[in-house]
Amino acid sequence: MARTPRVEIHPASIKHIKRGHPWITLDRFSAEFPKSPKFLRSRLDEKNFAVLLNDPNHPNVKARVWDVSTKSLIEDNEFVYDLKGRLYKSFELRPKSQFDRDNVYICFGEADKLPGLFIQKLSDHILIQFYADFWNHFERDVIKITREKFPNETVWVQKRNLKQEKEFFCATNKKKTEENIVLTEYGVNYHVKFNKFYDIGIYTDMSAIRERIGKTLADKDVLNLFSYTGVYSLYALKKEAKSVVSVDLSKKYINWLEENLEINPELDASKHEAMVMPTKKALMKLIDQGRTFDVIICDPPSSSTDGKKRTKAIDAYKELIPLIEMCLNKKGKAYIFLNTHSITRNKFEDRVRKYIEGSRLKVSDPIKLSGDCPSLKGFPEGDYLKGLTLHKS
Ligand SMILES: C[S@@+](CC[C@H](N)C(=O)[O-])C[C@H]1O[C@@H](n2cnc3c(N)ncnc32)[C@H](O)[C@@H]1O
Repeated sequence: MARTPRVEIHPASIKHIKRGHPWITLDRFSAEFPKSPKFLRSRLDEKNFAVLLNDPNHPNVKARVWDVSTKSLIEDNEFVYDLKGRLYKSFELRPKSQFDRDNVYICFGEADKLPGLFIQKLSDHILIQFYADFWNHFERDVIKITREKFPNETVWVQKRNLKQEKEFFCATNKKKTEENIVLTEYGVNYHVKFNKFYDIGIYTDMSAIRERIGKTLADKDVLNLFSYTGVYSLYALKKEAKSVVSVDLSKKYINWLEENLEINPELDASKHEAMVMPTKKALMKLIDQGRTFDVIICDPPSSSTDGKKRTKAIDAYKELIPLIEMCLNKKGKAYIFLNTHSITRNKFEDRVRKYIEGSRLKVSDPIKLSGDCPSLKGFPEGDYLKGLTLHKS
Protein backbone atom coordinates (compact mmCIF):
# COMPACT_ATOMS: atom_id res chain seq x y z
CA MET A 1 0.00 0.00 0.00
CA ALA A 2 1.23 3.51 -0.81
CA ARG A 3 2.62 5.60 1.99
CA THR A 4 0.62 8.46 3.43
CA PRO A 5 1.57 11.61 1.47
CA ARG A 6 4.33 13.63 3.07
CA VAL A 7 4.16 17.43 3.21
CA GLU A 8 6.54 20.16 4.28
CA ILE A 9 5.34 22.41 7.07
CA HIS A 10 6.55 25.78 8.30
CA PRO A 11 9.50 25.54 10.77
CA ALA A 12 7.36 27.45 13.28
CA SER A 13 4.63 24.77 12.93
CA ILE A 14 7.21 22.09 13.79
CA LYS A 15 8.13 24.01 16.92
CA HIS A 16 4.50 24.54 17.93
CA ILE A 17 3.48 20.91 17.31
CA LYS A 18 6.37 19.74 19.48
CA ARG A 19 4.96 21.93 22.26
CA GLY A 20 1.50 20.39 21.87
CA HIS A 21 -0.23 22.79 19.46
CA PRO A 22 -2.69 20.78 17.35
CA TRP A 23 -3.33 23.12 14.36
CA ILE A 24 -1.60 23.95 11.11
CA THR A 25 -2.99 27.22 9.88
CA LEU A 26 -2.82 28.71 6.40
CA ASP A 27 0.69 29.71 5.35
CA ARG A 28 2.86 29.30 2.23
CA PHE A 29 3.54 25.66 3.18
CA SER A 30 0.03 24.54 4.07
CA ALA A 31 -1.35 26.35 1.00
CA GLU A 32 0.45 23.67 -1.04
CA PHE A 33 -1.01 20.65 0.76
CA PRO A 34 -2.65 18.16 -1.64
CA LYS A 35 -6.45 18.31 -1.39
CA SER A 36 -7.61 14.72 -1.80
CA PRO A 37 -5.76 12.66 0.89
CA LYS A 38 -7.53 12.20 4.22
CA PHE A 39 -4.24 12.00 6.09
CA LEU A 40 -0.93 13.76 5.62
CA ARG A 41 2.30 13.38 7.48
CA SER A 42 5.14 15.75 8.06
CA ARG A 43 8.61 15.20 9.44
CA LEU A 44 9.19 16.71 12.90
CA ASP A 45 12.70 15.35 13.51
CA GLU A 46 14.90 12.43 12.50
CA LYS A 47 12.55 9.88 14.00
CA ASN A 48 9.05 11.28 14.15
CA PHE A 49 6.27 12.41 11.86
CA ALA A 50 3.22 14.44 12.73
CA VAL A 51 0.14 12.57 11.52
CA LEU A 52 -2.26 15.20 10.18
CA LEU A 53 -6.01 15.23 9.49
CA ASN A 54 -6.31 17.10 6.20
CA ASP A 55 -8.97 19.82 5.95
CA PRO A 56 -8.45 21.55 2.59
CA ASN A 57 -11.84 23.33 2.67
CA HIS A 58 -11.21 25.17 5.90
CA PRO A 59 -10.11 28.76 5.15
CA ASN A 60 -7.68 28.93 8.06
CA VAL A 61 -7.07 25.62 9.86
CA LYS A 62 -5.69 23.51 7.02
CA ALA A 63 -4.79 20.44 9.08
CA ARG A 64 -5.03 19.18 12.67
CA VAL A 65 -2.53 16.96 14.44
CA TRP A 66 -3.75 13.46 15.24
CA ASP A 67 -0.55 11.85 16.45
CA VAL A 68 3.21 11.96 16.52
CA SER A 69 4.48 8.67 15.14
CA THR A 70 7.34 6.94 13.32
CA LYS A 71 4.95 5.27 10.87
CA SER A 72 4.88 6.08 7.17
CA LEU A 73 1.39 4.75 6.51
CA ILE A 74 -1.83 5.60 8.33
CA GLU A 75 -4.55 3.10 7.50
CA ASP A 76 -8.25 3.72 8.00
CA ASN A 77 -8.86 0.69 10.22
CA GLU A 78 -5.98 1.62 12.50
CA PHE A 79 -7.29 5.19 12.68
CA VAL A 80 -10.80 3.97 13.58
CA TYR A 81 -9.31 1.76 16.32
CA ASP A 82 -7.53 4.78 17.81
CA LEU A 83 -10.64 6.91 17.36
CA LYS A 84 -12.69 4.44 19.36
CA GLY A 85 -10.11 4.39 22.16
CA ARG A 86 -10.04 8.18 22.33
CA LEU A 87 -13.82 8.56 22.22
CA TYR A 88 -14.35 5.99 24.95
CA LYS A 89 -11.72 7.65 27.11
CA SER A 90 -13.34 11.02 26.60
CA PHE A 91 -16.85 9.68 27.39
CA GLU A 92 -15.63 7.97 30.55
CA LEU A 93 -13.85 11.07 31.82
CA ARG A 94 -17.18 12.76 32.46
CA PRO A 95 -19.52 10.55 34.49
CA LYS A 96 -23.04 11.95 34.55
CA SER A 97 -23.08 11.96 38.36
CA GLN A 98 -20.40 14.66 38.32
CA PHE A 99 -22.79 17.29 36.95
CA ASP A 100 -26.03 18.77 38.21
CA ARG A 101 -27.29 19.19 34.66
CA ASP A 102 -28.59 17.25 31.67
CA ASN A 103 -26.25 19.02 29.25
CA VAL A 104 -22.60 17.98 29.30
CA TYR A 105 -19.81 17.94 26.73
CA ILE A 106 -18.67 14.33 26.50
CA CYS A 107 -15.99 15.13 23.92
CA PHE A 108 -14.34 18.53 23.67
CA GLY A 109 -12.28 18.47 20.50
CA GLU A 110 -8.57 19.18 20.68
CA ALA A 111 -8.48 18.99 24.49
CA ASP A 112 -9.65 15.36 24.25
CA LYS A 113 -7.21 14.61 21.39
CA LEU A 114 -10.15 14.56 18.97
CA PRO A 115 -9.45 17.70 16.96
CA GLY A 116 -12.49 19.42 15.48
CA LEU A 117 -14.90 16.89 17.00
CA PHE A 118 -17.31 18.03 19.73
CA ILE A 119 -20.05 15.90 21.30
CA GLN A 120 -22.68 16.97 23.82
CA LYS A 121 -25.05 14.81 25.78
CA LEU A 122 -28.32 16.72 26.10
CA SER A 123 -30.72 14.77 28.29
CA ASP A 124 -31.43 11.56 26.32
CA HIS A 125 -30.06 13.08 23.10
CA ILE A 126 -26.53 13.22 21.75
CA LEU A 127 -25.33 16.03 19.49
CA ILE A 128 -22.19 15.31 17.46
CA GLN A 129 -20.67 18.45 15.93
CA PHE A 130 -18.02 18.41 13.21
CA TYR A 131 -15.94 21.59 13.12
CA ALA A 132 -13.65 20.08 10.44
CA ASP A 133 -14.80 18.58 7.13
CA PHE A 134 -12.21 15.83 7.67
CA TRP A 135 -14.78 14.09 9.90
CA ASN A 136 -17.11 13.55 6.94
CA HIS A 137 -14.78 10.67 5.95
CA PHE A 138 -15.42 8.95 9.29
CA GLU A 139 -18.95 10.14 10.00
CA ARG A 140 -20.32 6.59 10.11
CA ASP A 141 -17.60 5.43 12.49
CA VAL A 142 -18.13 8.33 14.90
CA ILE A 143 -21.89 7.64 14.93
CA LYS A 144 -21.37 3.87 15.34
CA ILE A 145 -18.94 4.23 18.25
CA THR A 146 -21.17 6.80 19.97
CA ARG A 147 -24.25 4.57 19.57
CA GLU A 148 -22.38 1.58 21.01
CA LYS A 149 -21.80 3.59 24.15
CA PHE A 150 -25.22 5.31 24.18
CA PRO A 151 -27.61 2.76 22.64
CA ASN A 152 -30.84 4.35 23.94
CA GLU A 153 -30.14 7.95 22.98
CA THR A 154 -31.32 9.84 19.89
CA VAL A 155 -28.23 10.96 17.97
CA TRP A 156 -28.08 14.21 15.99
CA VAL A 157 -25.15 15.27 13.83
CA GLN A 158 -24.37 18.87 12.92
CA LYS A 159 -21.77 20.04 10.43
CA ARG A 160 -20.71 23.43 11.76
CA ASN A 161 -19.99 25.64 8.77
CA LEU A 162 -18.55 29.09 8.50
CA LYS A 163 -21.68 30.47 6.85
CA GLN A 164 -23.55 29.55 10.06
CA GLU A 165 -26.21 27.67 8.08
CA LYS A 166 -27.99 24.96 10.02
CA GLU A 167 -26.98 21.52 8.76
CA PHE A 168 -28.29 18.79 11.08
CA PHE A 169 -29.48 15.26 10.54
CA CYS A 170 -30.85 12.68 12.92
CA ALA A 171 -28.61 9.61 12.74
CA THR A 172 -31.01 7.35 14.62
CA ASN A 173 -34.16 8.23 12.71
CA LYS A 174 -33.69 9.48 9.16
CA LYS A 175 -37.33 10.61 9.00
CA LYS A 176 -36.86 13.05 11.87
CA THR A 177 -36.07 16.51 10.50
CA GLU A 178 -36.52 18.66 13.62
CA GLU A 179 -36.99 18.05 17.29
CA ASN A 180 -37.73 20.06 20.43
CA ILE A 181 -36.78 18.75 23.85
CA VAL A 182 -36.66 20.18 27.35
CA LEU A 183 -33.55 19.76 29.49
CA THR A 184 -32.63 20.83 32.98
CA GLU A 185 -29.50 22.72 33.98
CA TYR A 186 -29.02 23.43 37.71
CA GLY A 187 -32.72 22.93 38.38
CA VAL A 188 -33.97 25.18 35.56
CA ASN A 189 -35.75 23.85 32.43
CA TYR A 190 -34.89 25.01 28.94
CA HIS A 191 -36.28 24.31 25.48
CA VAL A 192 -33.62 22.91 23.15
CA LYS A 193 -34.35 22.79 19.43
CA PHE A 194 -32.52 20.54 16.98
CA ASN A 195 -32.32 21.71 13.38
CA LYS A 196 -34.42 24.81 13.93
CA PHE A 197 -31.54 27.31 13.96
CA TYR A 198 -27.76 27.11 13.77
CA ASP A 199 -27.55 27.01 17.60
CA ILE A 200 -29.81 24.88 19.80
CA GLY A 201 -30.84 27.34 22.55
CA ILE A 202 -28.30 26.63 25.28
CA TYR A 203 -24.52 27.02 25.30
CA THR A 204 -23.16 24.09 27.25
CA ASP A 205 -19.62 25.49 27.12
CA MET A 206 -20.99 28.26 29.42
CA SER A 207 -22.52 25.84 31.93
CA ALA A 208 -19.56 25.51 34.29
CA ILE A 209 -19.03 29.29 34.14
CA ARG A 210 -22.73 29.83 34.78
CA GLU A 211 -22.52 27.82 37.98
CA ARG A 212 -19.62 29.96 39.17
CA ILE A 213 -21.32 33.27 38.35
CA GLY A 214 -24.60 32.00 39.85
CA LYS A 215 -23.00 32.09 43.28
CA THR A 216 -22.90 35.88 43.13
CA LEU A 217 -26.48 36.62 42.06
CA ALA A 218 -28.64 36.19 45.20
CA ASP A 219 -30.53 39.35 46.10
CA LYS A 220 -28.95 41.30 43.23
CA ASP A 221 -30.35 43.43 40.42
CA VAL A 222 -29.02 41.68 37.33
CA LEU A 223 -28.71 42.91 33.74
CA ASN A 224 -28.12 40.22 31.11
CA LEU A 225 -26.89 41.73 27.84
CA PHE A 226 -27.04 39.65 24.61
CA SER A 227 -29.35 37.33 26.56
CA TYR A 228 -30.21 34.94 23.71
CA THR A 229 -32.77 32.41 25.08
CA GLY A 230 -32.27 33.70 28.62
CA VAL A 231 -30.27 30.90 30.19
CA TYR A 232 -28.34 33.32 32.43
CA SER A 233 -31.52 35.26 33.17
CA LEU A 234 -33.49 32.23 34.32
CA TYR A 235 -30.56 30.95 36.34
CA ALA A 236 -30.35 34.37 38.03
CA LEU A 237 -34.06 34.06 38.97
CA LYS A 238 -33.37 30.57 40.28
CA LYS A 239 -30.54 31.98 42.40
CA GLU A 240 -32.98 34.46 43.94
CA ALA A 241 -31.86 37.59 42.12
CA LYS A 242 -33.92 40.62 43.13
CA SER A 243 -34.68 41.56 39.52
CA VAL A 244 -33.46 40.55 36.05
CA VAL A 245 -33.44 42.55 32.82
CA SER A 246 -32.62 40.68 29.59
CA VAL A 247 -31.55 42.51 26.43
CA ASP A 248 -31.44 40.97 22.97
CA LEU A 249 -31.78 42.37 19.48
CA SER A 250 -33.82 39.41 18.37
CA LYS A 251 -37.53 39.09 19.13
CA LYS A 252 -37.23 35.43 18.13
CA TYR A 253 -34.84 34.69 21.01
CA ILE A 254 -36.77 36.82 23.52
CA ASN A 255 -39.88 34.78 22.61
CA TRP A 256 -37.83 31.64 23.26
CA LEU A 257 -36.76 33.11 26.63
CA GLU A 258 -40.44 33.64 27.44
CA GLU A 259 -41.21 30.04 26.43
CA ASN A 260 -38.45 29.01 28.83
CA LEU A 261 -40.03 31.06 31.61
CA GLU A 262 -43.35 29.29 31.00
CA ILE A 263 -41.84 25.85 31.71
CA ASN A 264 -40.43 27.04 35.05
CA PRO A 265 -43.52 27.96 37.04
CA GLU A 266 -41.57 28.08 40.30
CA LEU A 267 -39.53 31.05 39.04
CA ASP A 268 -40.99 34.47 39.72
CA ALA A 269 -41.47 35.79 36.18
CA SER A 270 -42.72 39.13 37.57
CA LYS A 271 -39.11 39.91 38.52
CA HIS A 272 -38.08 39.62 34.86
CA GLU A 273 -38.21 42.24 32.12
CA ALA A 274 -37.12 41.90 28.49
CA MET A 275 -35.84 44.64 26.19
CA VAL A 276 -35.83 43.78 22.47
CA MET A 277 -33.26 46.19 21.08
CA PRO A 278 -29.50 46.57 20.45
CA THR A 279 -27.43 46.49 23.63
CA LYS A 280 -26.06 49.99 23.17
CA LYS A 281 -29.53 51.48 22.79
CA ALA A 282 -30.76 49.51 25.82
CA LEU A 283 -27.85 50.73 27.98
CA MET A 284 -28.51 54.35 26.96
CA LYS A 285 -32.20 53.94 27.73
CA LEU A 286 -31.44 52.45 31.17
CA ILE A 287 -29.01 55.31 31.89
CA ASP A 288 -31.67 57.84 30.86
CA GLN A 289 -34.09 56.17 33.25
CA GLY A 290 -31.45 56.26 36.02
CA ARG A 291 -31.55 52.49 36.44
CA THR A 292 -28.52 50.69 37.85
CA PHE A 293 -27.56 47.07 38.54
CA ASP A 294 -25.38 45.07 40.94
CA VAL A 295 -24.36 42.53 38.31
CA ILE A 296 -24.09 42.90 34.54
CA ILE A 297 -23.44 39.88 32.31
CA CYS A 298 -22.28 40.71 28.82
CA ASP A 299 -21.70 37.85 26.39
CA PRO A 300 -21.78 39.22 22.85
CA PRO A 301 -21.30 37.21 19.66
CA SER A 302 -17.76 37.62 18.26
CA SER A 303 -19.13 40.20 15.87
CA SER A 304 -22.55 41.79 15.96
CA THR A 305 -24.72 44.32 14.25
CA ASP A 306 -26.72 47.21 15.69
CA GLY A 307 -29.07 46.81 12.76
CA LYS A 308 -26.86 49.01 10.55
CA LYS A 309 -23.16 48.17 10.78
CA ARG A 310 -21.19 45.09 11.88
CA THR A 311 -18.65 45.52 14.70
CA LYS A 312 -16.24 43.06 16.30
CA ALA A 313 -17.01 42.47 19.97
CA ILE A 314 -13.51 43.52 21.03
CA ASP A 315 -14.02 46.91 19.33
CA ALA A 316 -17.63 47.26 20.48
CA TYR A 317 -16.42 47.04 24.10
CA LYS A 318 -14.79 50.47 23.67
CA GLU A 319 -18.27 52.02 23.61
CA LEU A 320 -20.04 49.43 25.75
CA ILE A 321 -17.70 49.46 28.77
CA PRO A 322 -18.27 53.14 29.71
CA LEU A 323 -22.04 52.57 29.40
CA ILE A 324 -21.77 49.42 31.51
CA GLU A 325 -19.88 51.42 34.12
CA MET A 326 -22.68 53.99 34.25
CA CYS A 327 -25.25 51.24 34.76
CA LEU A 328 -23.27 49.53 37.54
CA ASN A 329 -23.86 50.23 41.20
CA LYS A 330 -20.94 50.98 43.48
CA LYS A 331 -19.24 47.65 44.35
CA GLY A 332 -21.09 46.11 41.38
CA LYS A 333 -19.54 43.52 39.09
CA ALA A 334 -19.64 43.11 35.34
CA TYR A 335 -18.77 39.75 33.78
CA ILE A 336 -17.68 40.48 30.25
CA PHE A 337 -16.92 37.79 27.66
CA LEU A 338 -15.19 37.48 24.33
CA ASN A 339 -16.01 34.40 22.32
CA THR A 340 -13.42 33.93 19.58
CA HIS A 341 -10.32 31.84 19.11
CA SER A 342 -8.66 34.51 16.99
CA ILE A 343 -7.94 36.99 19.82
CA THR A 344 -5.78 35.86 22.73
CA ARG A 345 -6.71 36.33 26.34
CA ASN A 346 -3.78 38.75 26.80
CA LYS A 347 -4.91 40.92 23.92
CA PHE A 348 -8.48 41.00 25.26
CA GLU A 349 -7.24 41.95 28.71
CA ASP A 350 -4.88 44.63 27.34
CA ARG A 351 -7.71 46.21 25.36
CA VAL A 352 -10.09 46.15 28.31
CA ARG A 353 -7.44 47.75 30.53
CA LYS A 354 -7.14 50.56 27.97
CA TYR A 355 -10.91 51.00 27.81
CA ILE A 356 -11.20 51.35 31.60
CA GLU A 357 -8.28 53.78 32.06
CA GLY A 358 -9.41 56.66 34.26
CA SER A 359 -12.67 54.94 35.19
CA ARG A 360 -13.84 53.44 38.48
CA LEU A 361 -13.58 49.95 37.06
CA LYS A 362 -10.86 47.43 37.90
CA VAL A 363 -10.15 44.14 36.16
CA SER A 364 -10.06 41.06 38.33
CA ASP A 365 -10.60 37.29 38.12
CA PRO A 366 -10.26 35.83 34.65
CA ILE A 367 -13.05 33.44 33.71
CA LYS A 368 -12.13 30.37 31.68
CA LEU A 369 -13.65 27.27 30.14
CA SER A 370 -13.64 24.56 32.77
CA GLY A 371 -15.28 21.35 33.98
CA ASP A 372 -16.43 19.30 31.00
CA CYS A 373 -14.79 21.86 28.64
CA PRO A 374 -11.07 21.68 29.39
CA SER A 375 -8.40 23.62 27.51
CA LEU A 376 -5.13 22.29 26.23
CA LYS A 377 -1.76 23.61 27.34
CA GLY A 378 0.13 25.26 24.47
CA PHE A 379 -3.09 25.87 22.51
CA PRO A 380 -4.40 29.40 23.23
CA GLU A 381 -6.97 29.13 20.40
CA GLY A 382 -8.71 26.35 22.35
CA ASP A 383 -9.24 28.82 25.20
CA TYR A 384 -11.78 30.63 22.97
CA LEU A 385 -14.27 31.65 25.63
CA LYS A 386 -12.58 34.38 27.64
CA GLY A 387 -14.18 36.24 30.47
CA LEU A 388 -13.09 39.04 32.77
CA THR A 389 -14.66 40.41 35.92
CA LEU A 390 -14.86 44.20 36.22
CA HIS A 391 -15.36 45.62 39.71
CA LYS A 392 -16.65 49.12 40.28
CA SER A 393 -15.19 50.91 43.27
C1 LIG B 1 -23.57 34.41 21.89
S1 LIG B 1 -25.29 34.68 22.05
C2 LIG B 1 -25.35 35.00 23.76
C3 LIG B 1 -25.41 33.74 24.59
C4 LIG B 1 -25.94 33.92 25.98
N1 LIG B 1 -25.12 34.85 26.72
C5 LIG B 1 -26.02 32.57 26.71
O1 LIG B 1 -25.13 32.25 27.54
O2 LIG B 1 -26.96 31.81 26.42
C6 LIG B 1 -25.46 36.24 21.26
C7 LIG B 1 -26.87 36.88 21.29
O3 LIG B 1 -26.66 38.25 20.99
C8 LIG B 1 -27.75 38.76 20.24
N2 LIG B 1 -27.26 39.99 19.59
C9 LIG B 1 -26.45 40.12 18.52
N3 LIG B 1 -26.16 41.43 18.32
C10 LIG B 1 -26.80 42.12 19.29
C11 LIG B 1 -26.86 43.49 19.64
N4 LIG B 1 -26.19 44.42 18.96
N5 LIG B 1 -27.59 43.84 20.72
C12 LIG B 1 -28.27 42.91 21.45
N6 LIG B 1 -28.24 41.61 21.15
C13 LIG B 1 -27.52 41.22 20.10
C14 LIG B 1 -28.14 37.62 19.34
O4 LIG B 1 -29.49 37.77 18.92
C15 LIG B 1 -27.89 36.41 20.25
O5 LIG B 1 -29.07 36.05 20.89
